[in-house]
Amino acid sequence: MKALVLAGGSGTRLRPLTHTSAKQLVPVANKPILFYVLEGIADAGVTDVGVIVGETADEIREAVGDGSRFGISVTYLPQHQPLGLAHAVRIARDWLGEDDFVMYLGDNFLLGGINEQLEEFRTRRPAAQIMLTQVPDPSAFGVVTLDEAGRVTGLEEKPEFPKSDLALVGVYFFTAAVHDAVDAIKPSARGELEITDAIQWLLDQGLGIASSTVNGYWKDTGNATDMLEANRSVLDGLTPYCKGSVDDKSELVGRVVVEDGAVITRSRIMGPAVIGRSTRVEDSYIGPFTSVAEDCVVVDSEIEYSIVLAGAAIDGVRRIEASMIGRQAQVTPAPRTPQAHRLILGDHSKVQIRS
Ligand code: G1P
Repeated sequence: MKALVLAGGSGTRLRPLTHTSAKQLVPVANKPILFYVLEGIADAGVTDVGVIVGETADEIREAVGDGSRFGISVTYLPQHQPLGLAHAVRIARDWLGEDDFVMYLGDNFLLGGINEQLEEFRTRRPAAQIMLTQVPDPSAFGVVTLDEAGRVTGLEEKPEFPKSDLALVGVYFFTAAVHDAVDAIKPSARGELEITDAIQWLLDQGLGIASSTVNGYWKDTGNATDMLEANRSVLDGLTPYCKGSVDDKSELVGRVVVEDGAVITRSRIMGPAVIGRSTRVEDSYIGPFTSVAEDCVVVDSEIEYSIVLAGAAIDGVRRIEASMIGRQAQVTPAPRTPQAHRLILGDHSKVQIRS
């Protein structure tokens, strides 16, 4: 059994953060999404992992290395153009050989792991096994229909008029039968080789497609709203500890993690929240569901339900909510006169100003 992790793609919906960082490396509770994926794979006992990389290959390689820190062995497989998930399987053909494999999309956030599903797949060995979950907006996903007995009857990629509310989660189990399928299909209207079409092809050949429903929390972290929501969900299960220093004028309320070298002075941190390594918080309020990464400075400010990336500085700003602040970004109040907003924003930035 091998694992194929997809960590290419350009992350357009997470710009500008993805101008400088791969979308799979955006942190949730101060840990890149991709690390949760690799940990889940390792936890299921799969150690031979192929990682498909695109434009952001260097950065992914730097973060993941040879995989030994996760207890896995990583082989990088370059995909020069983002031509679809089934195209990634074609690229991995030689590396996969005749082995069964789990394909895991590197921006899919699945709490609860894949152990049960993998066990089920190993026992029954259908040509493909998919995971489903009910969503309010099925048109944004691969959509699956089931018959009354719960058997898969059809799959469609992002249909305008979805026939069900069951979305395909980005974790798929395959036998080597999938290689014929990815060779047989043609690009979709959006010009990609869709894995959804490959699974439909297997179904058309009369091969068995098993499905299971996701019990735990799942999120495709394509945009900022989803990232903040995934962050909330991980922080919700936080085990508190304090390795940094907190003065006696500060208060940590509820489940708060303060990492090594972080310094909290005259501040109130309402959990669940994490304060990263060597971050300084002074005269501030950090509200629930907030992750502040390492080497940040938060002074005389209030921030809640947000993700702050490494090296950012927030000084004299109240109040920030539902925000993502990129690496080394600086947020400060404007001078009193003229009464104006002064902005230096990266390409594709999004700013909402209270007026
Ligand atoms: C991909 C798949 C889609 C699936 C989704 C899950 O979509 O094509 O079928 O439901 O992942 O995250 P993408 O996010 O690449 O548009």
